[in-house]
Amino acid sequence: MKVLIVGSGGREHAIAASVAKSTKVDKIYCAPGNAGIGSLAECVPIGAMEFDKIVSFAKEKDIDLTIVGMDDPLVGGLVDELEAAGLRAFGPRKNAAVLEGSKAFSKDLMKKYKIPTAKYENFDDAKQAEAYLETAKFPVVLKADGLALGKGVLICKDLEEAKEGVKSIMLDKKFGSAGNQMVIEEFMTGREVSVLSFVDGKTIKTMTSAQDHKRALDGDKGLNTGGMGTFSPSPFYTEEVDKFCREHIYQPTVDAMAAEGREFKGIIFFGLMLTQEGPKVLEYNARFGDPEAQVVLPRMKNDLIEVVSACIDGKLDEIDLQFEKNAAVCVVLASEGYPVDYKKGFAIHGLESFEGKEGYYCFHAGTKKTENGIVTNGGRVLGITAKGRDLKEARANAYEATKWVTFENKYMRNDIGKAIEEV
Ligand code: AMP
Ligand code: GLY
Repeated sequence: MKVLIVGSGGREHAIAASVAKSTKVDKIYCAPGNAGIGSLAECVPIGAMEFDKIVSFAKEKDIDLTIVGMDDPLVGGLVDELEAAGLRAFGPRKNAAVLEGSKAFSKDLMKKYKIPTAKYENFDDAKQAEAYLETAKFPVVLKADGLALGKGVLICKDLEEAKEGVKSIMLDKKFGSAGNQMVIEEFMTGREVSVLSFVDGKTIKTMTSAQDHKRALDGDKGLNTGGMGTFSPSPFYTEEVDKFCREHIYQPTVDAMAAEGREFKGIIFFGLMLTQEGPKVLEYNARFGDPEAQVVLPRMKNDLIEVVSACIDGKLDEIDLQFEKNAAVCVVLASEGYPVDYKKGFAIHGLESFEGKEGYYCFHAGTKKTENGIVTNGGRVLGITAKGRDLKEARANAYEATKWVTFENKYMRNDIGKAIEEV
């Protein structure tokens, strides 16, 4: 069969690598893809938000399955448009992708169906938000309602900072129309865990757990980024936590979406916080995490195409989802200055070192093929993943492999997965 993947990051490279392993697949296309994906798929210069072009391309090439990796096209309704044209697509329709697309919607859903999450209020008026803050406990968390590249969350330590935050989100529109509404919620403390799951509308099967490091600098300091590295599994995600989440979070979320007439088929990514009062939902995403996919998918034993097809056909209950009993760590190699200001266009050396190395992966994020070879083309450039028998070994392997590639302004965190030493 012919598969089209929509997206261009490290996550889509990891998806492409899994799709390429399937015996059912003859040809992979990626729109728009990147230099690394280009070694597995034919990249086509169509942007992820160019819906008409994607649909025409899929029809013209007789694509059997389109996998949408990114949040923007899902929230914008790409799956609906593909389906309307009679094409098969993996990912939630627009009315279900709102689970990620609107934080106000997701908070109201959790409240209505008693799914544990931080206490909150929604606002569409800056004056009312400010008035509410006068009585709030600090620190407090402000969230732009819509998609904001993972940057629309502000943790404010006092009233002054919070009022400034409301102004920047709702009045100055720092995150554009994502700030037309906002959520103000209680600040929680605890370990964060990411749990990705496959959903077919009624059945949910969770993947192995992972943890992301969102801040730019070692010790979880500096600005929030798209993710500087991940490890999987999370040793903090115990059987007891898993049992609680199954009962109170996972299935209840899927059932709630169905009850609201918003049947969810695709990936639900639960961002959880393990608080003193038990696990609570920080946020939902409607897609694989980036760079969570880069540590979860390499450990999956199943044929991804079989699982994805079962989701679309409502037959996920027939799948026995299995993960290797090992560990993986992904270290992101970024361009110095990310996430604010960084240069592009530097030659990348050493990519060939990964060829034939079992258990090592070099997932491309911001890279581009030029006449002079592959060059940096974004803030996050590569995701270096390595497996090991346990997290400690995986971590050592991943950091060893980061030495194999060089480019000017290469920057990485040195403490990805270090928290495991506390266990
Ligand atoms: P989100 O995009 O909602 O996952 O938020 C981004 C990051 O902000 C999370 O990964 C947390 O580190 C932090 N965060 C979000 N909500 C809260 C909260 N209620 N309490 C504490 N930290 C939060
Ligand atoms: N790594 C976090 C995300 O994909 O949203």
